[in-house]
Amino acid sequence: MSETKMMQIKLAERPTGLPDDNTFEIAEVDVPTPGTDEVLVRVEMVSLDPAMRGWLDDRPSYLPPVGIGQVMRALGVGTVVASNHADVAIGDRVAGGFGWQEYAPMMGKDLQPIPPSAPTELALGPLGMTGMTAYFGLLDVGEPKEGDTVLVSGAAGAVGSIVGQIAKIKGCRVVGIAGSDEKCAWLEKDLGFDAVINYKTTEDMYKAVKEACPKGVDVYFDNVGGPLLDVVLAQINLGARIAICGAISAYNATDPVPGPANYLSLLVNRGKMQGFIVFDYAPRYAAAVEEISGWIAEGKIQARYDVVEGLENAPKALLRLFDGSNSGKLLVRVAAV
Ligand SMILES: NC(=O)c1ccc[n+]([C@@H]2O[C@H](COP(=O)([O-])OP(=O)(O)OC[C@H]3O[C@@H](n4cnc5c(N)ncnc54)[C@H](OP(=O)(O)O)[C@@H]3O)[C@@H](O)[C@H]2O)c1
Repeated sequence: MSETKMMQIKLAERPTGLPDDNTFEIAEVDVPTPGTDEVLVRVEMVSLDPAMRGWLDDRPSYLPPVGIGQVMRALGVGTVVASNHADVAIGDRVAGGFGWQEYAPMMGKDLQPIPPSAPTELALGPLGMTGMTAYFGLLDVGEPKEGDTVLVSGAAGAVGSIVGQIAKIKGCRVVGIAGSDEKCAWLEKDLGFDAVINYKTTEDMYKAVKEACPKGVDVYFDNVGGPLLDVVLAQINLGARIAICGAISAYNATDPVPGPANYLSLLVNRGKMQGFIVFDYAPRYAAAVEEISGWIAEGKIQARYDVVEGLENAPKALLRLFDGSNSGKLLVRVAAV
């Protein structure tokens, strides 16, 4: 390893609303030397995730906020270039919480191995946190049964597109809500969704959901929250399950977000609405990776990726998750391999 300096992107100040030019700062620092039981990872790609917006706020959550002056937290894939850990060798491909930096010093125990043949995009997409979220959120929280109507918001996104495909595998009627005609066409024509709704061009979402789900909604996989959740609550079936995966419509809100007015529909219909955090399912990831790998090999799961070149472009690229200009799993290439 010959490089002695590397780029890091740190949190400079907490944003109000959308992150802006002042939120992050780029620093050049020395490439660290790994300590006892540590390894040094050359980061190849990092994942951009909507949850990163929440990590910028100084409020209690499932993970502590990123501190001012700290490297921005991010999941990534890379290659070990130095190792003081008995079980990790130079050249190993690994995944972990590397952050927005070119080299990450990591405890050896905090790394997940990646098979040398697995494409990086796949390891951060359907076989990574994204795929795990879709798999456990749909199957464990949504509990779809054959013949159910499964409605997915954020359907053309990284998580939503896999949710819909798994629901098809399980024999459900799948309806997707997404923000462009191109995304809707991809869901219907390429992924086999039964019906789609472009929420940006639809005036009456209640009517559109009613038409797309004539037998009502049995499972709602919610990625966006907001007024759409109310629209869906008004159309759930007896015993419906609502999986609260995310609420991206509210992540940059500067005013208090109103709760769903139609929540008593859960009472009337004996429904359940349950949030979940993917990390709680970590002990079961290996089994999910095996099953999803099988579906990919059979051509039943497809994914598309939106790869931004250059770590310095990560702050601007993150905003694309919030204007919907990402097409599929949003990634940043930090280094060519
Ligand atoms: N619970 C967990 O453990 C967990 C883990 C991972 C992800 N998540 C959640 O899963 C959801 C999807 O994440 P992802 O990584 O797959 O991102 P993604 O769907 O690939 O990208 C975000 C998409 O959200 C849509 N969006 C943005 N603002 C919106 C708004 N105001 N109203 C409606 N849609 C909006 C955009 O698509 P359109 O063009 O369709 O608007 C955008 O492309 C997020 O809510 C995320 O927080 C949860």
